[in-house]
Amino acid sequence: MKFYAINGSPRKKHNTATVLAKALEGVSAVLPDAQTEMLHLYDYSYKGCISCFECKRLGGKSYGKCAVRDELAPVLEKLSLADGIIFGSPIYFKGITGEMRSFFERFLFPYLVYDATYSSIAPKKMKTAFIYTMNVTDAAMRDMNYPEHLGGMEYFTGRMLTPPSVLYVNDTYQFMDYSKYKVECFSEEAKLKRKNEEFPKDCQKAFELGMAMARS
Ligand SMILES: Cc1cc2nc3c(=O)[nH]c(=O)nc-3n(C[C@H](O)[C@H](O)[C@H](O)COP(=O)(O)O)c2cc1C
Repeated sequence: MKFYAINGSPRKKHNTATVLAKALEGVSAVLPDAQTEMLHLYDYSYKGCISCFECKRLGGKSYGKCAVRDELAPVLEKLSLADGIIFGSPIYFKGITGEMRSFFERFLFPYLVYDATYSSIAPKKMKTAFIYTMNVTDAAMRDMNYPEHLGGMEYFTGRMLTPPSVLYVNDTYQFMDYSKYKVECFSEEAKLKRKNEEFPKDCQKAFELGMAMARS
């Protein structure tokens, strides 16, 4: 069995990558023989959907698949046969990162059939999960309707593949050394306390998310 974590952060060793690694550890704890791999989207040179509609051309060789041949193409091929995928993204301006969104356009749109029910022709309905990391607290996130904004991609993932489980990781530690940057809106002390006391709990939740995915 093959499980992937997709890191939509440009940073390979920060919050998003850390919780994604924990989720994959959770998968391995339940399925020691499963193959797990983290893919960093910023390693690949690609763009979002170019609206060529080759994925919908009747009788076309790319029907149901993205026809664009770039560095994302082999990644999409691999993912189409996954047993489970955990999508992780930092929040940039209340949404997933641009690279993550471009990835989803290329990954999900070819599976969407323009029939009466907008059915899915995904070759495999793998398990899915979303993990978001962000600066705002849980309360601020809900006040500003982040879950509603983020729900769009979760909805299409559910329609094309399977409904995702979701984990929000709030109030993340953004810099290695706050003293080197102009930051007046956050208290470094409070951020550090949260990093030391709450982030390990978030990692545990990510681990449990991975275990639950592997069990299901
Ligand atoms: C361009 C940019 C925009 C951001 N916008 C938001 C935002 O709208 N809301 C939020 O809570 N955090 C925002 N953040 C903070 C990141 O989401 C947060 O630090 C995240 O945990 C970073 O993930 P990483 O450590 O994996 O890179 C933003 C950060 C950047 C660089």
